[in-house]
Amino acid sequence: MATLEINGVAKLYGNRTVLHDISLNLSSGEFVSLLGPSGCGKTTLLRIIAGFEHPERGSVRVDGRDITALPANQRQLGMVFQAYSLFPNMTAAENVRFGLRVRKIDAAEQTRRVGEMLELVGLSAHADKYPHQLSGGQQQRVALARALAIQPTLLLLDEPLSALDAKVRVQLREEIRRIQRETGITTVFVTHDQEEALSISDRVAVMFEGRMVQVGAPAAIYQEPEHPFVAQFIGISSRLPARLLDAGQGMISVMDKPLQAPRARGLTSGELHLYLRPEDVQLHALNGSTPSDAVLQGTVRESTFFGAVTRLRVELDSGERLLSDLSTSAAQQLPIGSRVHIGWPADAMRLLPAKDTP
Ligand SMILES: Nc1ncnc2c1ncn2[C@@H]1O[C@H](COP(=O)(O)OP(=O)(O)OP(=O)(O)O)[C@@H](O)[C@H]1O
Ligand SMILES: [Mg+2]
Repeated sequence: MATLEINGVAKLYGNRTVLHDISLNLSSGEFVSLLGPSGCGKTTLLRIIAGFEHPERGSVRVDGRDITALPANQRQLGMVFQAYSLFPNMTAAENVRFGLRVRKIDAAEQTRRVGEMLELVGLSAHADKYPHQLSGGQQQRVALARALAIQPTLLLLDEPLSALDAKVRVQLREEIRRIQRETGITTVFVTHDQEEALSISDRVAVMFEGRMVQVGAPAAIYQEPEHPFVAQFIGISSRLPARLLDAGQGMISVMDKPLQAPRARGLTSGELHLYLRPEDVQLHALNGSTPSDAVLQGTVRESTFFGAVTRLRVELDSGERLLSDLSTSAAQQLPIGSRVHIGWPADAMRLLPAKDTP
């Protein structure tokens, strides 16, 4: 088990900066995902940790030791990549044994560890199969066993599930998490799939355009976005323009309606964006009595059935759009064209300065 400290790392390709001042610390045994869209720099950061790329600035430390200049082959790290990267002419067992042979581990110990690793990933019965005789998910399990066999100080996984179909992905990500817990190995897991990152990580590090925009526990990333990119990229949010009226009192206005918003306290920017999760937006037919949480009015324009839940798209009289997830039975009372009161709990409002919006 090891700690990992990334401090002020910057990386340029030519004159283009692809990583800006990245810092991230992992405690021993922690599982952290790097989450972000294609091209944001996840693989580049992972390759810097692995020693395949070198940063222009900053440092990488493992257990307090500066390894920034250490060649990759002296770092003792386990890696699994997106593409199946097994040696095609070796069996599963031979693949797992490979790194042990290179390191000239005692033969009996090699055999013991190969058996142990194949058992850990549930492939003892497939030890003598070649990669082409294994499914994609099984091949990635062998790759994981191979990475772990050398008893690495860190496990680095670069989208190891992205070539697999949806069902196998979910099974294998849970398996990876179980194995990571059992071995206690400090792990960096790269993905662009937010559900994957939120479901298996101790913490998620969200990257956007070469910057680390927020690092936190999955629930905090989802519930307390600190950056507009996080508010829009993680889960689904509707966005409305808002204005700060009184930061001390926690007052904002939305479509010229003054509203108490606890999270407005301490904000400084006048122009804000208000983000609302569809599960927080309540709708009530306009012909009934006015509910206490009603803020705005609008018209139901679209309805998408998801089974137990139906998502309604509502257009405000001012033209903005909001999504609302209702129980299907409630949504059936509000057919397309219905006029509705729109409301939400005060603490469901996330507010961010409008000027930072990407
Ligand atoms: N060897 C290279 N030479 C020049 N530019 C590169 C090189 N490798 C990556 N880049 C650029 O650096 C940026 C970050 O790339 P990187 O592969 O780290 O992104 P990523 O987040 O892993 O994306 P993806 O989700 O598509 O794998 C991209 O704009 C990419 O084009
Ligand atoms: Mg990548």
